[in-house]
Amino acid sequence: MRKKVTKAIFPVAGMGTRFLPATKSVPKEIMTLVDRPLVQYAIDEARAAGIKEFIFVTSRGKGALEDYFDHAPFLEQQLRKSGKLDLLEALKATNMESGAIAYIRQHRALGLGHAVWCARRLIGNEPFAVMLPDDVIAAETPCLEQMIDAYQETGGNMVAAMEVPADKASSYGILDVDEDMGSVVSVKGMVEKPEAGKAPSNLAVIGRYILSPSVLSNLNKMKSGAGGEIQLTDAIAQDIGTENTVYGYRFRGQRFDCGSKAGFLQATVAFALARDDLRDDLLRYLQEMVQLDKAAQ
Ligand code: UTP
Repeated sequence: MRKKVTKAIFPVAGMGTRFLPATKSVPKEIMTLVDRPLVQYAIDEARAAGIKEFIFVTSRGKGALEDYFDHAPFLEQQLRKSGKLDLLEALKATNMESGAIAYIRQHRALGLGHAVWCARRLIGNEPFAVMLPDDVIAAETPCLEQMIDAYQETGGNMVAAMEVPADKASSYGILDVDEDMGSVVSVKGMVEKPEAGKAPSNLAVIGRYILSPSVLSNLNKMKSGAGGEIQLTDAIAQDIGTENTVYGYRFRGQRFDCGSKAGFLQATVAFALARDDLRDDLLRYLQEMVQLDKAAQ
């Protein structure tokens, strides 16, 4: 029987420069898709997968994130008084059980690997998940839940994988596939941001991981990798061929890169179209826009 995965690390210490000036004062993870901040989508996905402890790796200026998960007695009282019970209900998802959430500071932005390493003392000797809230995944079965199911069979380390066009491979960590078993592939190498034309496959790693504590020991020993940062990919790749070898998991669902403006806008449209209260008006508006655009050409 494998140890249950009950802890997740959310590295959110990055500066979010692609969204400046907005992210000068608002953490990227608090930016809103329809009516929920990015981080809420990640927390909901984690909860659905059975995660009980939520560890945020933060940095200066992320206070809004901590406040978001706090109780808001005055607001709740006002909503109750005015009979807005649906809004009170909507707030419930933001409440965290006391002690279930922890915040650790990454004092310098030394990369994703370093951010994960900062949480090592809260993980101990058990497998854990890492979730990047920038990657929002629309899926019938939440992505992390799919991965935890698959992990029960494989053990080791598991990374979420997605096919990408060859000309986009240099923006991702790319898997060198050993054996392709369908939804699961075993991995013989991982290359972070390969040069154009040098990607070993079209399978890219995206922001969901189930990791063995051995990755934390690897991070302990690491120096900087590509771009002068401590890369999580390099620390995971060190486990290839060991008892904690690495698997890629082709998840079922659509991933939006909400760390980029284009991805964020696409996610906004997709999530709004999935809502009964917004769909018809938005669709009509989009159709009008497309027609106007065609007419102008
Ligand atoms: P990104 O590469 O998207 O960086 O980090 P960023 O700072 O968030 O955004 P840009 O590129 O400046 O616009 C991927 C994830 O890793 C976290 C980020 O917070 C994000 O969730 N991260 C990155 C850290 O926690 N610490 C780091 O040192 C680097």
